[in-house]
Amino acid sequence: MEAIEKVARERMKGYCRVCTCCDGRACAGEVPGMGGLGTGSAFAANLQSLATLRFNMRLIHDVCEPDTSIQLLGQSLALPLLAAPIGGVSFNMGGKITEEAYISAVLGGCAEAGILGCVGDGVPDFIHQAGYEAIKAFGGKGIPFIKPWEDAAFFEKVDKALAAGATIIGMDIDAAGLITLKKMGRPVTPKSFEKLAEIIEQVKAPFILKGVMTVTDAEMAVDAGAKAIVVSNHGGRVLDHTPGAADVLPGIVDAVKGRIAILADGGVRTGGDILKMLALGAEAVMIGRPFSAAAVGGLSPGVHQYIQRIAADLKTAMILTGTARADAVDRAILRT
Ligand SMILES: Cc1cc2nc3c(=O)[nH]c(=O)nc-3n(C[C@H](O)[C@H](O)[C@H](O)COP(=O)(O)O)c2cc1C
Repeated sequence: MEAIEKVARERMKGYCRVCTCCDGRACAGEVPGMGGLGTGSAFAANLQSLATLRFNMRLIHDVCEPDTSIQLLGQSLALPLLAAPIGGVSFNMGGKITEEAYISAVLGGCAEAGILGCVGDGVPDFIHQAGYEAIKAFGGKGIPFIKPWEDAAFFEKVDKALAAGATIIGMDIDAAGLITLKKMGRPVTPKSFEKLAEIIEQVKAPFILKGVMTVTDAEMAVDAGAKAIVVSNHGGRVLDHTPGAADVLPGIVDAVKGRIAILADGGVRTGGDILKMLALGAEAVMIGRPFSAAAVGGLSPGVHQYIQRIAADLKTAMILTGTARADAVDRAILRT
């Protein structure tokens, strides 16, 4: 990974420093770029919320080969992990590789490792176009996240994604905070409960709502008919001073677990972080920026290698907490 990160550092110069620990400190306020919005506090809060959690270490048990596989919305995944939707290689990552090469590396590396990569959306249109081409190339293995555009624009993309072979559709509703899109005359907006329910009803595929940070929104997502939520503050890129995802996850889990699949992202950097999110009740996690660095620095083999490393790390954390299965993680492995 060091060699891959070195190449990424060169290719992303001026956009991302590919820090040893990607924590949002050096890049605070760098949006566009890879940073968090404003003071960068929401990006940092994601890491802090995970860092405050401590494991109860347990070694007297017979868990030597933990099972990291899970089922998510009818898909079998080798790990409880997805590559988060990230787009805009030219203005966020420096443009040394194309959007096509980038997303193909992410989806390809993920498919080879038995997990799923997600596809982002935005302006210009080639962001989602490159993503849907890659979904098609990998036989439908990829989840498109579409921004909360107004009706016609949203459904046009849903149709294109389904035609490319996507079987699950996501919406990053928190992108309603991206004022840049509004300035470009491409409005993204929050959705009323009725509107959201209508949209979900019309999308003929399981629907994931990304950007849920409160119990109220989580309950409304269930009632509107979403099949999954992603507890996420968009990597701290839409509203400064939001809490970390791991801060709000337990309350959301207590309210809606069992009625909807729960994913979480933000600041997950190690196998231990994945396990912490699962212990708090997430069924799977997404990782964002480290996947971008792996893809820009090492294309598909770089992504694959990154996944292998994090998988080994997750297994170690599972063994040292006596966790046999990724789909049945006990909250008691965390010290209260
Ligand atoms: C450069 C960049 C672009 C992003 N683009 C999107 C996007 O198009 N759609 C989306 O749902 N989330 C997008 N996100 C948010 C990520 O999907 C994810 O929620 C976040 O990066 C997770 O935090 P992490 O990077 O700390 O792991 C983007 C994030 C970054 C850093």
